[in-house]
Amino acid sequence: SAAEKGGYDYFMLKEIAEQPKAVSDTLLGRIDAAGQLHLDEIRIPAGELREVDKIVIVACGTAYHAGMIAKYAIEHWTRIPCETELASEFRYRDPILDSRTLVVAISQSGETMDTLMALRHAREQGARVLAICNTNGSTIPRESDAVLYTHAGPEVAVASTKAFLTQLVACYLVALYLGQVRGTKWGDEIQSVIGQLARIGDDVDAVLETMEPVRELARGLADRDTVLFLGRHVGYPVALEGALKLKELAYMHAEGFAAGELKHGPIALIEDGVPVVVVVPSPRGRSVLHDKIVSNIQEVRARGALTIVIAEQGDESVVPYADHLIRVPATPTLLQPMVATVPLQVFACELATARGNEVDQPRNLAKSVTVE
Ligand code: G6P
Repeated sequence: SAAEKGGYDYFMLKEIAEQPKAVSDTLLGRIDAAGQLHLDEIRIPAGELREVDKIVIVACGTAYHAGMIAKYAIEHWTRIPCETELASEFRYRDPILDSRTLVVAISQSGETMDTLMALRHAREQGARVLAICNTNGSTIPRESDAVLYTHAGPEVAVASTKAFLTQLVACYLVALYLGQVRGTKWGDEIQSVIGQLARIGDDVDAVLETMEPVRELARGLADRDTVLFLGRHVGYPVALEGALKLKELAYMHAEGFAAGELKHGPIALIEDGVPVVVVVPSPRGRSVLHDKIVSNIQEVRARGALTIVIAEQGDESVVPYADHLIRVPATPTLLQPMVATVPLQVFACELATARGNEVDQPRNLAKSVTVE
């Protein structure tokens, strides 16, 4: 009913708008006023966390993209080797696991069969499993050794939005906590990122305030066949997520590429008028990557692409090459996915609407897939 949707036409719009609160609720009580993390709730003793020598993240769909982003954060802040794998692939390749492996299973519903089978396999091999989940008492947390709940509230639309942002928050909390517990040379950076993370809900809010041009752009592209997405580093999974959203909602051919791979194949797809969405990292962080992506924008534009550029506030270097420029607040590089994903959600939702698709219940999809 309209009341359930809080005045929005679709649950997806409501859930997109709820993201600042979802993020804040997921942080609540986990960062204290002094900027220390409190994750005692996961009840894995600090001594055991210091012993972990490998982390494997398993998930499906949008949760898998959160896991791909988490890998960058975990390896950077903890120096523990981390791999992220599709849950449906994991157990079939005979993965190497033991009691010092921490497996992180990410799932909004807590009922995804592929993810459940992956974690069962991990536990049989003696690994410890931490679930990141949005649904209290669901199967995945019940069968895990530990759980960190996301507090996105119920997510009804099939395409995941607010759950994704809270999965990122939970992953960062785990990464920063492991860094804090184990003590790394990134101590100062960890402290500063914790501060920024505590305020990230405001940044998401600021993005939501500026989405009208994105909706207008989407309406103008409703008759296109293909949209391509490029990103690098944590922007790469953001590109994949942008493409997944378009497939799910707009039923359009959409693909995300690692920008560095462009020259190894995908650039052959560029022809006149093809929309290419580019996620640009902060020029302040890994500036080498920033400059390489700006070159990629020039390369596709020279071949006729319509460039849609997502770049942080104040980054003027992209202005000459952007046919459409979407601004996001400046954040530390690793936190940028939390703001850069939001315009892509809005973009896909508006395209679906313009194409007359059922936004909350896309064809052929289920909110929670309980078969393998
Ligand atoms: C389904 C949904 C996706 C979701 C995926 C994983 O395919 O359509 O939106 O990302 O399952 O769901 P989970 O509940 O495990 O996060």
